[in-house]
Amino acid sequence: MDRNEAMLRELHLYPQWTLRAPVEQPAAIEHVDDVGAGSLAPLRQAQGERESIREQASPASIEAARSIETSTDIPSVQNIGPDVSVSAPFSPATTWPELKQQVRECNRCGLRTGCTRTVFGVGNETADWLFVGEGPGAEEDALGEPFVGQAGRLLDNMLTAIKLARGKQVFIANVVKCRPPDNRNPAAGEVAQCMPYLARQIELIQPKLIVALGKVAANSLLGNEATLASLRGTLHDYRGIPLVVTYHPAYLLRSPSEKAKAWQDLCFAVDVMSKALAQHSVHP
Ligand code: URA
Repeated sequence: MDRNEAMLRELHLYPQWTLRAPVEQPAAIEHVDDVGAGSLAPLRQAQGERESIREQASPASIEAARSIETSTDIPSVQNIGPDVSVSAPFSPATTWPELKQQVRECNRCGLRTGCTRTVFGVGNETADWLFVGEGPGAEEDALGEPFVGQAGRLLDNMLTAIKLARGKQVFIANVVKCRPPDNRNPAAGEVAQCMPYLARQIELIQPKLIVALGKVAANSLLGNEATLASLRGTLHDYRGIPLVVTYHPAYLLRSPSEKAKAWQDLCFAVDVMSKALAQHSVHP
């Protein structure tokens, strides 16, 4: 067994996943590293929606994300859904129960009318690890929990590989809490309206490390438009919290050859966490 195979086995990713039926390939992805979950719409069509893999490619969100990076106030974005900026003010001091209720009752953007339920996030509310995805897909929308579809099962395996488990040392959340129709990327205004909820979740959790899954999550949290390839392998900072970027699991399902790189990212994250914990024990 070579080293690569050993790593993949540890990540529960070997033998590599293969599609169960031949499918039409999506239109060429010119900059494959730029995608988050991957451009799965054509794949989904070809599979008749059998596979509930999230689709993304992230062009959305950036301009608005940049403007909200340092703000806990809901930016007033026009032309997206009803204007509820007065009727549902966001309070920076929101507690967990208040925040959950605000998300449940939110209709700041048009996404809420098209989804079944909001997907708040799941896990340990004082977790050291926070994993952030893009937004709910069909299965998440049905169950109200992030990453419960095929991509979620891969995420669970990735967590297991670094000795973590959903609901234990980890909190899992998304940038947007409502499923975008047809699994499209969230629009800039939708991200802008929803980001303050994630910002407050992060304030409440106070994780020691954030792992951004895919380009949408990374760009939204970092307030930039950088490619995923350029963001990987570097330690970033979200308001003083270390942040590591890796591929979205749905993208890995489509591009299994990239799983070894995801494993490198996870090892990097583990290393960052070890250092953060060591620092914490020296300076409690
Ligand atoms: N993809 C995401 O980004 N989030 C989910 O919750 C599920 C799939």
